[in-house]
Amino acid sequence: MNKNIEIRTTKDGSKTIYLPDFDENYHSFHGAIQEANHVFIKNGLDFLMHRDSISIFEMGFGTGLNAFLSYLRSKDSNQVIQYVGLEAYPLDKHIYSEMAYSRQLGLVSEQFYFDLMDAKWGQFIDVSENFQLLKIKSSIEEWESDQKFDLIYFDAFGPRVQTEMWNLEIMVKMFKLLKTNGVLVTYCAQGQFKRNLKEAGFEVNSLPGPPGKREMTRAIKINKNFTTN
Ligand SMILES: C[S@@+](CC[C@H](N)C(=O)[O-])C[C@H]1O[C@@H](n2cnc3c(N)ncnc32)[C@H](O)[C@@H]1O
Repeated sequence: MNKNIEIRTTKDGSKTIYLPDFDENYHSFHGAIQEANHVFIKNGLDFLMHRDSISIFEMGFGTGLNAFLSYLRSKDSNQVIQYVGLEAYPLDKHIYSEMAYSRQLGLVSEQFYFDLMDAKWGQFIDVSENFQLLKIKSSIEEWESDQKFDLIYFDAFGPRVQTEMWNLEIMVKMFKLLKTNGVLVTYCAQGQFKRNLKEAGFEVNSLPGPPGKREMTRAIKINKNFTTN
């Protein structure tokens, strides 16, 4: 992936990264924090809240925004979270230092964000009593794991830019990574992608998207006795 990078401010005032070579943003231009909160926190993490512990796998760790919001949610709710973030192209510190998500969220210090972003790759870190983080530097194509997760944040670049990330093979891999009743959430609602999810074995639900997007997707590795709590 080319690292010709620009930092842009989205419509809710939060920052994102823009890749001019692909004409692609890391987040919705309508609002990076707004989108992450809607897709991954409200319709992902909150949907599963109040299990003893929730294991999350993120495909595409990037700026760490989804990990950071999940971490803050674990603090608010005392929810225990084990978070594994996969990233093929980690950002340099001089880039993520400019994201200033803490300020945007009204926090007095950037320290919590940097605790996540500066954490060593390939090593479990206890960021807090409730939040354990493992960042893995690898491509999804090369990475294999026996671990099973409760929740997947699927946050690859869109199908226009990375068609191969949304194909059946990757969705079968995501299905295998989830526990029974596990959930995958993503901002993408493309038809072929949803057909691939179904073919991989998921039950697929289209939900209202964040501002600026009609729909998002939540897919469940269903078992007929499924309950959210
Ligand atoms: C849409 S961005 C989202 C990043 C992140 N979730 C965030 O909030 O900043 C997609 C991310 O996936 C990463 N990525 C792209 N292709 C990948 C691959 N094959 N394997 C793992 N990560 C990949 C990119 O480098 C980028 O960080």
